[in-house]
Amino acid sequence: MTRVLSVASECAPLVKTGGLADVVGALPLALAAQGVEMRVLLPGYGRVLSAVPEARQVHRFDTLMGGPARLLAVRAGGLSLFVLEAPHLFERGGTIYLDEEGRDWDDNPERFAALSRAGAEICAGRAGDWVPQVAHGHDWQAGLLPYYLSQETAPVPSVMTIHNIAFAGLAPPERMAALGIDARDFRVEGVEYWGRVSTLKAGLVHADRITTVSPTYARELATPAFGMGFDGLIRARRADLTGILNGIDAEVWNPATDRAIRRYRSGRGKARATQALRREMGLPDAAGPLAVVISRLTAQKGLDLLLEALPSYLEAGGQLALLGSGDRAMELAWQEAGARHAGVSVHIGYDDTLSHRMIAGGDAVLVPSRFEPCGLTQLYGLRYGTIPVVARTGGLADTVIDANDAALKARVATGIVHRPDDADALAFALSRMVGLHAQAGTWAAMVKVAMRHPVGWDVSAGQYAALYRDLTPAA
Ligand code: ADP
Ligand code: GLC
Repeated sequence: MTRVLSVASECAPLVKTGGLADVVGALPLALAAQGVEMRVLLPGYGRVLSAVPEARQVHRFDTLMGGPARLLAVRAGGLSLFVLEAPHLFERGGTIYLDEEGRDWDDNPERFAALSRAGAEICAGRAGDWVPQVAHGHDWQAGLLPYYLSQETAPVPSVMTIHNIAFAGLAPPERMAALGIDARDFRVEGVEYWGRVSTLKAGLVHADRITTVSPTYARELATPAFGMGFDGLIRARRADLTGILNGIDAEVWNPATDRAIRRYRSGRGKARATQALRREMGLPDAAGPLAVVISRLTAQKGLDLLLEALPSYLEAGGQLALLGSGDRAMELAWQEAGARHAGVSVHIGYDDTLSHRMIAGGDAVLVPSRFEPCGLTQLYGLRYGTIPVVARTGGLADTVIDANDAALKARVATGIVHRPDDADALAFALSRMVGLHAQAGTWAAMVKVAMRHPVGWDVSAGQYAALYRDLTPAA
């Protein structure tokens, strides 16, 4: 067994704000079948600590970023976890990243530097007898992990995964000493990013390998349009970068056993689920398709473009149910659209069980993102026969096959793909969707193909396992 420590700020089902948590929570189980023993290090947020009361101490810090801290170990929900208990950093109100006013916590650099520091201690064998052979950090929150490891005399090799390069993990240079960053590393080849420190950059510079969550996003990252200022660095490290597609948890997202939809099951499962969803969302019966959106409401997701494309879609007979939360202005704009149109139902909030009923009951799931490193809801859609309508970018481009004539004829089409960042292209994609939905036979055939598309972790877990093995030739 190759021992790997995964370090992240979220892990489903304990704490989740987005797809990162799903991936971090699913990887250990998927990798177990590949001869990899992965343990996950997480911050001890209040809700995490209360979920694992039986955790036992494996290491103590007299002081870590301004206060005492302990590393705890515990098994929970099939996962082997390390939890960093540091009340001064992680036990507070707000959300895991934002204060009560919705601003980033001012000490976010220190909070997640502490997490990376704890990871480095585990890797150095100073926290109990389980010592990893590979360290795997996720996003800017774990960016300092490869950096701290690089300061060790015999560091374990490290992997850094980019789930979203839009979050650079910025800190003012004055805080470098407190963060344990050598002032000499404040340069373009080091951790400097437009006059500030980027913890993500620290990870990208110092990790032995870099991965991201789809092959197309791996290519996009090397371009100025998607690289967010890191494209030069990405190009320099191209030989060490691979794109490995995310999978979904096939147990949690399983139309055959889904508890959230069981009460709707019958001989006509999908139609019943759609009817029930219309009722629940207060939408009238209709012959046209019911599209769903489950998303963070941020500029990344392109849902402002969907607002523009909405009138023509509704006029053609389509309906829309949206579940989301995020930017206040976008929440308001969607609430307004919901109030204005009988065919639009908007639920602002975060609701896991409702998201299951929506994927189950929707005819189509829309993901019009401007960029999308991988995306998970289109994969849920494929599994549930809920046809994805997606922008041709990142993981969306890698997982959905457009229903053009040739693909339909060859019976490989699984959805509809449109040009990103273009409201007209989105409107046209929606009109194609309405048209295909009206051809019952064609639609049913496409649903069948979509449901057969592999969306589990098998292949990707094998790719991660191979990567770890590459880094530990002697093991
Ligand atoms: P991202 O990580 O960029 O938000 P992904 O598609 O990778 O995008 O993952 C989003 C995850 O969060 C999915 O599991 C999705 O179902 C879930 N999700 C997003 N918004 C909501 C919401 N408002 N309610 C319930 N689940 C949500
Ligand atoms: C990020 C990306 C999303 C991806 C998720 C998990 O949040 O925005 O596309 O699926 O990470 O890797």
